[in-house]
Amino acid sequence: MSTAKKRVTTRTLIKMKQANEPIAMITAYDYPAAKMAEAAGADMILVGDSLGMVVLGYDSTIPVTLEDMLHHTKAVTRGANRAMVIADLPFMVAHLSRDEVLKAAARLMQEGGAYGVKLEGGREIIENVRALTQAGIPVVGHLGLTPQSVNQLGGYVIQGKELAAAERLIEEAQHLEQAGICALVLECVPEELARLISEKLRVPTIGIGAGRHCDGQVLVYHDVLALGGEWHPSFVKVYRQAGRMMTEGIAEYVQEVKNRQFPQEEHVTHLAGEIAEQLYGAKEGATA
Ligand code: KIV
Repeated sequence: MSTAKKRVTTRTLIKMKQANEPIAMITAYDYPAAKMAEAAGADMILVGDSLGMVVLGYDSTIPVTLEDMLHHTKAVTRGANRAMVIADLPFMVAHLSRDEVLKAAARLMQEGGAYGVKLEGGREIIENVRALTQAGIPVVGHLGLTPQSVNQLGGYVIQGKELAAAERLIEEAQHLEQAGICALVLECVPEELARLISEKLRVPTIGIGAGRHCDGQVLVYHDVLALGGEWHPSFVKVYRQAGRMMTEGIAEYVQEVKNRQFPQEEHVTHLAGEIAEQLYGAKEGATA
């Protein structure tokens, strides 16, 4: 558990990278999860559009809207005081006009309370990234496997395995840094490539399925706690079988309701004796 109280800022991230201190990021989508992430000492909380899959039950992040992101970002920021809360710009927003991207980011910060935003993509969104950072908005980039492009990528597959693809990712990471990002998520790329990008950038890289040499790591809350069932991607480490424990807890409750074991005396409120008498007197057939 962390004891540090000072809010994590963009300066903290740079200092952590310089001091070779790993950055721990986790996703959260609601108030209790944010409180837990915060109590556990997470430096950064991502309100990821992965919420579309793990919370809303879609089969990709594509259906997630800005209103969905706002709703969940508001809940998360109410539960986080120290960790830096970053909210995802949902599908397509990063590709809209400069004004529309700025407005979307402004809503996530002003209404949602986010510290900054994350956008998926490289060269094709660079002007919008620059517009955001020039407007003073902390931007986290996201390269490698970018789930909003899953249909184009043809599935959730490792990126940057070929030389040309690896070189393109390095170049795009550098362009994003020049455009002013404060950190870069690298998703599902080979460890050697993630290491090289991390060495070349001044801003920290946060890996997910990107090996051991990024400046930080991010995992999805529901994966860390096995809240989504048995299956999880191979790069995930499950730290607690919380989903199983929760299902067992609910099953016990259901059984106790059915067996009339719940509620018991300690869960009950009683009427004062004389009121009960008057009521029972007035209501024929009532039993104590
Ligand atoms: O939406 C998300 O949770 C993400 C992480 C996988 C980095 O973008």
